[in-house]
This record gives sequence, structure tokens and C-alpha cells, in this order.
Amino acid sequence: MWDQPKVKAFRETPVSLAFPEDRVAFGENLDPAVRTGLAPEGGFAASPYVFPEEELLRGRVLYESFCAVCHGARGEGDGRVVPLGMPRPRPFPEVAEMPEGYFYFAATNGFGRMFSYQGRIPQRERWLIAHYIRRCLLDEVCPEEVFRAEVH
Ligand code: HEC
Repeated sequence: MWDQPKVKAFRETPVSLAFPEDRVAFGENLDPAVRTGLAPEGGFAASPYVFPEEELLRGRVLYESFCAVCHGARGEGDGRVVPLGMPRPRPFPEVAEMPEGYFYFAATNGFGRMFSYQGRIPQRERWLIAHYIRRCLLDEVCPEEVFRAEVH
């Protein structure tokens, strides 16, 4: 302890404290498409993941845990907090033409009076939620058992 290199006030620094130019800080993903949900060439980013069918149920669980309280289990904007004073979100069927990236974008950045979920839901899970919304709440090409499964 006594002899190891260390920083002392008013003394020359014995170790280099400069960070290398190309460092990536722990926990930070610097890809702009990941951080913003926007593609570098414009428009919404496309999902970097291909989710197997079995993951749709987990998408439902995540959606129902994080989004349904306001957006409603079917995305109709009729979540249980709406009658308590939360502004009523637009039903997802009204934005049915929007790509998966739109839902990732909203979850990542927030949307108007809705806050961001970037620090609350990991990136892959935000894409899975977006995928679930497109497949099961909008396109209706969702395996029946995803809706029939009991989730708590
Ligand atoms: C606490 C309530 C709440 C939660 C939870 C919530 N939202 Fe929202 N969301 C809103 C409100 C309110 C709006 C409308 C905001 C506005 O127009 O100012 C909105 C808007 C949106 C929109 C834009 C809809 C449009 O009008 O085009 C999308 C997409 C969206 N939310 C997705 C999500 C997703 C995905 C989740 C879960 C990760 C989520 N929201 C969780 C309240 C919520």
C-alpha cells in the first residue's frame, strides 16, 4: 500500500489517467440506432433480432408488466390507470401502419407525456415488446396459445 503507485495531492501523477480514445464505457451502448431507435439513413430503426415464436409469450408478459397498465392488455388505450387520471393513450390500432421500430422508439425515448423506458427495460426486451405489439396486437398473426396462456 505504502509503495504502490498512487495519486497524491500536489504531487506528479505516477500513473496515466488518460482514457483511450476508443474506450466504450461499461454499460453504455453507443450505437445510435440502439440509443435513439432511429436508423442512420432516416426513419425508424429495424429490429436487429429475429425472435422465435416461443418468445412471443415472454413478449406478452413484458408488455403486460410494463405497458398494459396504461395501454390496456389489447393496446386499446384503456389501461386501468386511465380512469384514475392518466391521459388516455391513442389506441394502437390507430397507428397500425407504423413499423415495429415505432414502438421501440416510443419505449426508448418516451412519447409526449409518457416517460422513457430506456433505463428500465433492456434493449432486447424493448424490441421484444415492440415485436409482440406488431404481431399479437396489430397484425393478429399470433399463435392462439400466446393469448390463452395464463400469465400473472
Ligand atoms: C404510465 C402510463 C404509460 C405506460 C406504462 C406506457 N405508456 Fe405508452 N403512452 C402513454 C401515454 C399517456 C401516451 C400518449 C402521450 C401523449 O400523447 O402525450 C403514450 C404513447 C405511446 C405511444 C405512441 C402512440 C401514438 O399516439 O402514436 C406508443 C407507441 C407507446 N406509448 C408505447 C408504449 C410501450 C411499448 C410501453 C411499454 C414499454 C408503454 N407505452 C408504456 C402512457 C404510458
